[in-house]
Parts: sequence; C-alpha cells; structure tokens
Amino acid sequence: MNVSLARFALWNLKTCALANVVVGQHHNYVEISQALLDYVKEIFSDRPLVAAAWATPDDQNWHNALLRRGFEIYIEKCYFRKDLKGYISPYANHFAFQSMNEFGENEFLNHFVRIFPGNANRDFNNANPKSDFYELKGSSVENFDPARWKIAYFHGEAVGIMILKMFEHDIREGGLLSYGLFPEYRGKGLGKALHAVGLEHLAQLGAEHYVGSTDCLNDAMIKIFEANGCSDAGIRRQYRFLKPGSAADIWI
Ligand SMILES: CC(C)(COP(=O)(O)OP(=O)(O)OC[C@H]1O[C@@H](n2cnc3c(N)ncnc32)[C@H](O)[C@@H]1OP(=O)(O)O)[C@@H](O)C(=O)NCCC(=O)NCCS
Repeated sequence: MNVSLARFALWNLKTCALANVVVGQHHNYVEISQALLDYVKEIFSDRPLVAAAWATPDDQNWHNALLRRGFEIYIEKCYFRKDLKGYISPYANHFAFQSMNEFGENEFLNHFVRIFPGNANRDFNNANPKSDFYELKGSSVENFDPARWKIAYFHGEAVGIMILKMFEHDIREGGLLSYGLFPEYRGKGLGKALHAVGLEHLAQLGAEHYVGSTDCLNDAMIKIFEANGCSDAGIRRQYRFLKPGSAADIWI
C-alpha cells in the first residue's frame, strides 16, 4: 500500500482504543479502510474500539467501512454553532457565579454527580459518575483553569454548573462543558437563560464563535440551542466495536 494513501491514528484510552482512519480518494477506499480497521482490531484485540464519522455524504464511505467491519452506531451527537461577536444574553440576568477557586473541587464534584446521572446523554457513565468528572478534568489538564469552572446561583440559590472552555486549536472558539441544572430547577426556563449567559461569558473571554453538542436524544438541550439562535452544524455518529461475547454494559 502506498503510505501517502492512508494514515490512521489511535488514541489508546483507559477503557478503549479510538480509531481514526483517513484514506485519500481512491477507488479502493472501502477495502483499504477495512484492511486498516482489521489491523487496528488485531493490535487492540484486548479492548473495545470506538470511532466517529459525520452523517454526511463525505463520510459515507468511512461509515460503510465501519459497518462492514462489525462496528455499530451507539450514539449520535447533534452539533450547533453560533457567532458570538458582541453577543449579549436577551434574558433578564438574575444569575451570579462562583468559580472553583472559591468553592474547591469537591463541591463542584458533588454538584456534578447530582446533575448528570440519568440524563439523556448516552455517553455518560451512570455506573460511575465521578469517573466522567475526572476524565473531564484530566482532558483539561494543559489548560485547566479553575476560574472557568462555575457554579450558577439564581436569586442566591445554587441551581447548576458549567465550564467555560476556549478550544486550544482555535482560541476564538468557545464551548460550554458539563452544562446542567439540578433536577428541581429544570423545566422553568432557567436552562435557556443560563445557557445564554454562558454564551455571553464566552464572548467576553474573546470567543468569536461557539460550538455546542449534545446527544440527539436530549430534546431539552436541543430546544435550548435552537431558542438561543444556534444553527444546526450536523450530526456526528459514534461507533463501537464489541468483540463477540463482550457485554454491552462495558460502555456505561
Ligand atoms: C438540559 C437542561 C439544561 C435543560 O434545562 P431546563 O431548565 O429544563 O430547560 P428550560 O426549562 O429552559 O427548557 C428549554 C426547552 O426544553 C423543553 N424541555 C424541558 N425539559 C424537557 C424534557 N425533559 N423533554 C423535552 N423538552 C423539554 C422546554 O419545554 C423548553 O422548550 P420550549 O422552548 O419549547 O418552551 C436540563 O434538563 C439538565 O440540566 N439536564 C441534565 C444535564 C444535561 O443534559 N445537560 C446538557 C448536556 S449537553
């Protein structure tokens, strides 16, 4: 095989390996991708594999190669974008914030495990919610800034959390991670208003645009993106390869 034709990357995570195979335009695209996937499956035969593809015609061949090699879709993530230049929340702002610098990591963790178990996001680890928190913190290590890990207060009461994230690859792109409200404050319009305030904070940090995503089953979050003027930026599918005989609950 001509090496300039194909390349692949593997991220060997704690629980699984993530495969990203890039093959240039070629009439044997699917066969080449499948051969590389077989190789990845062989060298990581001891662990599950995950991969991702956009639900677009451009990624159709990669999607076909994954399915033919026994991968299955297990999550679809809906992506949204918004221009943030000069953005100001249109909602009345009754929120106040404290950062992790003021309240410490344990308090944030306690809030995190109250908000996320049982939520609509299928990639959340319900069996061990703390592991998602530490994974998030671990993945932020290089740019970990406790000042951007926030607890939100509404009329003096803690109602939810969020992390303001400026993406490393493009300093002008921002995101809100771990965004959520305590169950007792949901369904009252606070989610929409707090999200808009989060966008305003990102704009103040210098973000020119926002990228957000959620599980396509998370109806409430999708309504928030739409209500706050974010536009549809596509669906990204996540695939997994379960070795025959592996339990599906390895993923949760
Ligand atoms: C997602 C979340 C932040 C929404 O907050 P919220 O305060 O309930 O949202 P709002 O009250 O502002 O409602 C927003 C919209 O969603 C709708 N909605 C609220 N709960 C809903 C539900 N369970 N199913 C479907 N729609 C719902 C509301 O009717 C409203 O729609 P409308 O604009 O047509 O009136 C909250 O449910 C949450 O914290 N969930 C757990 C964590 C999570 O999923 N975070 C997002 C991770 S990407």
